[in-house]
Amino acid sequence: MLRRKSTIILTALGLLLIATGWIAAQETPTPIPTPEPTPIPVTLLCDPAELLRQQAELSARLQSLSQDMAGASPEVGLDSLFKVGEAYQQLALDCGYIPADAAERPVGSDVQRILAALDTVYGDPLNGQLLYNGELACAGCHLAEAKVAPPTEGTYTRVLDVRLLDPALSDYTPTQYLIESIIDPGHYVVPGYTNIMVSNFGDRISLQQLADVLSFLESQDGPSPE
Ligand code: HEC
Repeated sequence: MLRRKSTIILTALGLLLIATGWIAAQETPTPIPTPEPTPIPVTLLCDPAELLRQQAELSARLQSLSQDMAGASPEVGLDSLFKVGEAYQQLALDCGYIPADAAERPVGSDVQRILAALDTVYGDPLNGQLLYNGELACAGCHLAEAKVAPPTEGTYTRVLDVRLLDPALSDYTPTQYLIESIIDPGHYVVPGYTNIMVSNFGDRISLQQLADVLSFLESQDGPSPE
């Protein structure tokens, strides 16, 4: 009798343990798989044959690395490893590769590459206005009263109705013109002005900041005082 009772108790305990285990198993969160990074579509901006030629050159430089490392000056080897790494990265960027952190990096000075990368960010005109008037100090020169640069007001109207009609800019899109005006201001100097604009904005602003400034300038589509 006593034996039967303890068997029942043990079975009940066993069942309880199994049930608790099952419940615990249900509550254990199944690990969420880390999503694979979505590759950003790349438009090849360089000639594939040229890309392969440069890649072969870099790879040859890597071949001599083991000799350098084994030789008297491993520092030289390490230095050249770093430079080859940098050159590989530059090659990929020049060919249209858009890194995942492109928005935060300095935009550089390649207008075609910037145009391609702009597709991956969304410009905020309000932040663009803040940058234009504040941190980047564009507004000082571009004040209508200052008369040293085309006025901010109506910039976009002028781009469409005046600048792009200049045969020198016949194949330009408005965005391309604006980017070039900011990144490489000496390339096309607006008639009647001297190019006194700072030429290193490409090293100073990120892709996101440029997109913001561009969308602010695109909002300047009222009448132009000039
Ligand atoms: C030191 C003065 C100065 C500063 C600072 C300056 N610019 Fe300019 N900018 C000029 C001058 C002068 C021109 C016209 C001559 C030329 O094309 O380079 C010009 C031309 C432009 C144009 C073409 C306008 C048109 O009507 O075609 C744009 C767009 C422009 N600048 C944007 C900017 C932005 C954005 C900044 C800030 C990131 C900036 N500029 C900072 C002097 C300046």
